[in-house]
Amino acid sequence: MTKTIIFLVLVALASTFYISRKQMSDQKKDVWATYVNKKTERDGAILAAGRDGSPIILDWSIRNVSDSDFYEKQSQMIETSVEAFTKVEMDFLKAHTDEALQDEHFKTLKPFFADGKQNVDWDAATQKMRDRIRAIYETKNEALSSDFVFIFVILKDQETNKQLGSAQFFIMPDYPDGDVRVVSIAVKPEHQRKGLGKLLMDSVINIIPETKRIFLSTRITNEGAISAYKKWGFTEDPHPSVGHFMFPDHWIHLEKKVGGLRSAL
Ligand SMILES: CC(C)(COP(=O)(O)OP(=O)(O)OC[C@H]1O[C@@H](n2cnc3c(N)ncnc32)[C@H](O)[C@@H]1OP(=O)(O)O)[C@@H](O)C(=O)NCCC(=O)NCCS
Repeated sequence: MTKTIIFLVLVALASTFYISRKQMSDQKKDVWATYVNKKTERDGAILAAGRDGSPIILDWSIRNVSDSDFYEKQSQMIETSVEAFTKVEMDFLKAHTDEALQDEHFKTLKPFFADGKQNVDWDAATQKMRDRIRAIYETKNEALSSDFVFIFVILKDQETNKQLGSAQFFIMPDYPDGDVRVVSIAVKPEHQRKGLGKLLMDSVINIIPETKRIFLSTRITNEGAISAYKKWGFTEDPHPSVGHFMFPDHWIHLEKKVGGLRSAL
């Protein structure tokens, strides 16, 4: 009898401890996105230099969908993203045609394959992919909620003010404290391998010094980006959130722990 009571008390204590730990961690998750969303400094610029010493400026903004200039900021990603990502997507399509064509993302390219892979007009298909990527950045996304936080970064040549690259980071309310996802990072092809991609990736730590982990997913065929990420210290993410990927095996999930300057919330 006494043993049973002791056992029940221990079970009750353990579940109370578990529930309060879970509540605490859920609260922390909400606090992190809200904390970044409420930052008073929502725009800024970082001065830097490329590997060859060329002066660079990184203009950044923290925004959510309820900001009036949200879609304007998003459309600034088009200039570099269309150019950089079209090749990435076409490489994937060429390597994994059958699976790719089942994916909604490649739907508009299906007619090019009507007479078989050997008869595809690749120039026309590539143009279609360009249009598709542009449309992603131009389209209003009804699924976005104002508690989703976006960080937009545009990398420019300081002297000419020309855009050379861009990056987009993201924090959702259910992300653990300090987690930031890379939505996109792109450098114009003719300016790659000059250290600009690293400046873009590191910018998030300057913008949100409380960042503790940066994580991302990229296509397995994207060898250039994968070697860049590994060079920058990213390693395989042991617990990726892959639920939304149609073919999880076609992605590589990486993360980088960056320490974070703020103690845990
Ligand atoms: C990934 C990307 C942003 C890197 O930008 P970047 O300005 O070239 O990167 P950095 O110059 O800072 O770093 C370069 C390092 O990454 C690696 N790297 C970059 N591109 C590479 C390539 N095509 N092949 C092999 N290694 C490559 C190398 O280690 C390189 O160092 P090195 O030039 O001294 O050899 C750029 O390649 C890009 O825009 N790619 C197309 C878009 C894309 O794939 N984005 C990521 C999708 S998630």
